[in-house]
Amino acid sequence: MAETGISCGENSAVLDALKPVVRDEPESGIVNAANYVWKKGGNVIPMWVGEGSSPTPEFICRAAVESLARGETFYTWQRGIPELREALARYHARHYAKPFNAENFYVTGGGMQALQTAIQAIAGAGSEIVMPSPAWPNHAAPLRMLEVKPVEVPMNFSNGRWQLDLDQIFDAVNADTRAILVNSPSNPVGMVVGDDELIAIRDFCRKRGLWIIADEVYGRFYYPLTPGAGKVAPSFQNHCDAEEQIIYVNTFSKNWAMTGWRMGWVQAPEVIGQQIENLIQYNTSGVASFMQPAGIAALDQGEEFVESQVAHCAAGLDYLTSTLGQRDDISVQRPDGSFYYFFKVDGITDSVAAIKTWIDEINVGLAPGTAFGEGGEGWFRLCFACSHENLHEAADRLCQWLDHR
Ligand SMILES: Cc1ncc(COP(=O)(O)O)c(C=O)c1O
Repeated sequence: MAETGISCGENSAVLDALKPVVRDEPESGIVNAANYVWKKGGNVIPMWVGEGSSPTPEFICRAAVESLARGETFYTWQRGIPELREALARYHARHYAKPFNAENFYVTGGGMQALQTAIQAIAGAGSEIVMPSPAWPNHAAPLRMLEVKPVEVPMNFSNGRWQLDLDQIFDAVNADTRAILVNSPSNPVGMVVGDDELIAIRDFCRKRGLWIIADEVYGRFYYPLTPGAGKVAPSFQNHCDAEEQIIYVNTFSKNWAMTGWRMGWVQAPEVIGQQIENLIQYNTSGVASFMQPAGIAALDQGEEFVESQVAHCAAGLDYLTSTLGQRDDISVQRPDGSFYYFFKVDGITDSVAAIKTWIDEINVGLAPGTAFGEGGEGWFRLCFACSHENLHEAADRLCQWLDHR
């Protein structure tokens, strides 16, 4: 016991003193897979995490270094520096062919804090948010920790495709529902919600006074097979007014290989700008001043890089389609977007056990489908944004293992 004589109590009592929703939240299934690998050590090919192998391009890093050299190390605008918010408006105007207003953009600590901000702005204890599932675990977990109920509506996988059942989604809405959360392109299943469905969701939300949380962080990673489908995935941007009840969640992480920077943005109606600013103020007090010029460089000069990233992922996806995707013992929808291959293996009923076996036996690390909700058992998520060398090796090892099991 401490010499001060002050008892710290039993560890379990300290744990019990936590808020139950925080105490009882399990570890993310993706992090769990990563921890298993890190404890084991060795050369496991890391395919569980949502990032590529390339570091952030030099011109983006240089903008941050130059900002530091200029002494930009002080507190700054909570919403983000005006120049970055202007750059966000320019970037969106280029991709969605309509004008955008810098006053709708708020810089956050990654897409994750953008999501937190959106949730905190509209939902609290006792309320509900409806979302399709399988879903990225970081959609439901922060809701639970805020005592908001995530209502996960299972998507159906039939005829080789994930189907969003809008009737089921709308039926899940009740008097406590505050929002429908739509993640398209989807992590983990790679499904892209079509324009007609986006419009139907918009109309339903308008009629019922609900918010839309639009997580479109993979909007640029779009590989449609339909000719002339465009370079950016269908988006609420094309169907909603910036001033209606919609909050977009986005990030620098994926497009510009900036996962470690923790910089993203919220796009929300101008009229709630002060409230969004307050949330940023009281959560993190904003994003590091010297990182923000790097965001401007990414948005204004990063197009070639984004296109090369998307082409890299599309080539990786082609390899998977011609290897794992050809197997009779695998069910998969070729993803139209994002950079995940979400597949089911015949005869495997325990995803977590299979993940561990592959880590131990063939040094390939995937994320278990169970990390993405109840419907995920038997499924696996493989991130194909990594180097082609790693991707080919991992796919080949998996095919060989499946051949000899
Ligand atoms: C669907 C989705 N939304 C948001 C994010 C958050 O991105 P960030 O890494 O910037 O927090 C991710 C990251 O994996 C994601 O997959």
